[in-house]
Amino acid sequence: MALPKEFLWGGATAANQTEGGMLEGGRGLTNTDLLPIGADRAAIAAGKLNNLERKADYFYPSENAIDMYHHYLEDIQLFAEMGFKVYRMSLSWTRIFPNGDDETPNEAGLVFYEKIFQELKKHKIEPLVTLAHFDVPVALIKKYGAWRDRRMIDAYVHYAETVMTRFKGLVRYWLTVNEINILLHQPFVGGGLIFSEDENVEEVKYQAAHHQLVASARVTELAHKIDPENQVGCMLAGGSHYPYTCRPEDYFEAIQRDHGEYFFIDVQARGRYPRYALKKFEREGLSIQMTEEDLKVLAENPVDFVSFSYYASRTVSSHPEDYEATTGNLFKSIKNPYLPSTEWGWQIDPQGLRNSLNQLYDRYQKPLFIVENGLGAKDQPDENGYVDDEYRIDYMREHIKAFKAAVEVDGVELMGYTSWGCIDLTAASTGQMSKRYGFIYVDCDDEGKGSLKRSKKKSFDWYKQVIVSNGEDLTSPQ
Ligand code: BG6
Repeated sequence: MALPKEFLWGGATAANQTEGGMLEGGRGLTNTDLLPIGADRAAIAAGKLNNLERKADYFYPSENAIDMYHHYLEDIQLFAEMGFKVYRMSLSWTRIFPNGDDETPNEAGLVFYEKIFQELKKHKIEPLVTLAHFDVPVALIKKYGAWRDRRMIDAYVHYAETVMTRFKGLVRYWLTVNEINILLHQPFVGGGLIFSEDENVEEVKYQAAHHQLVASARVTELAHKIDPENQVGCMLAGGSHYPYTCRPEDYFEAIQRDHGEYFFIDVQARGRYPRYALKKFEREGLSIQMTEEDLKVLAENPVDFVSFSYYASRTVSSHPEDYEATTGNLFKSIKNPYLPSTEWGWQIDPQGLRNSLNQLYDRYQKPLFIVENGLGAKDQPDENGYVDDEYRIDYMREHIKAFKAAVEVDGVELMGYTSWGCIDLTAASTGQMSKRYGFIYVDCDDEGKGSLKRSKKKSFDWYKQVIVSNGEDLTSPQ
């Protein structure tokens, strides 16, 4: 038994964490440009602190990131050397439409991505393109209050139609919204939302979610019309919930918490609102505006495949106050005593990946795609920038074994695997450069200082060998 020979191995990044070139080539500002490193980051990300004007005393890591804007040729060359079959990246919406809804696109932005796709094609690397990876144009936040307003749908659809038409023949795998459930946890990051004191936060979040879901379905429809070769996926911040004990109420808590996250994918994959969500709206008095036409678009345009990120499982209890919580995790979780943790307190659980794959496949019966997974760790480079990152190899080896078992033993349909941050990039949660995921080291620190020189880590050769053997040879290189 082995993985199918067309299995898509590769790596993943996002524009806001790699590109830099914030105002170059006519680009406009986006929400993640306004996330500083430091104490205020969490409140801004949560939509509790309004930071729509850039401040001189903040350091904004996305401003230059790893400057892929000027280094992409070198970076793609390195991906090709590792044998990538696929490269997941996102487009920066404001590079194409600086204000989000301009009548005509910015040609310089389109040309920038066209060159990237042509370069990938030269190396036979298939692009997997996320249309919105934590990306809401600031002009639209100011104009509409972001995704709370249904006019966002047309702006997003116009953007998607523009790029899908222009890049027809160069791109055929698309993801509509990165980690769509993050909207509930970091509403400014996921949806550009900033709340006023008197509003019903829960209602605004689910209204924004509805607009994103309709926009995603409309784009799925459009993608198929523009090119029948196009395949569109949804994208979930994955990781299922474990009950802390076998107390029946703990198990029910796990079911409910799964509902909370799977809600989005239930709509995108099945084409209708799950009854538990409608009951929640009713119970909590949330009035979500939906038209008949919205429901029709959702019903007629489910996604082709389900993609997700996986870093950790989550553990829950009906009595959470009795237990210690994990640190540094966006999702509230109790510390699982059976699992080790990363330096950032994320619990390492390869078996949890196999569990999630089975759960998602049982639930949706659609091909799955792991589009993010990896270990954020502090690396110590030698004077040549080489890092002996055996710990990263260990982490990835166990996760690869887990998804291979899900495919080969459990029969899950899996299209591919793109490890997160295949080249070091700035962290989404903290903005740190020192939280590194890559096979490629980038000389840059948490203050944005460094030569930006790229160098190979030990895991670079390891991953190359994993890909060439289609996941059969997972041993460490000598
Ligand atoms: C996912 C995001 O949440 O996790 C990525 O889609 C992010 O953008 C990744 O970088 C890892 O999180 P962090 O905070 O370690 O960068």
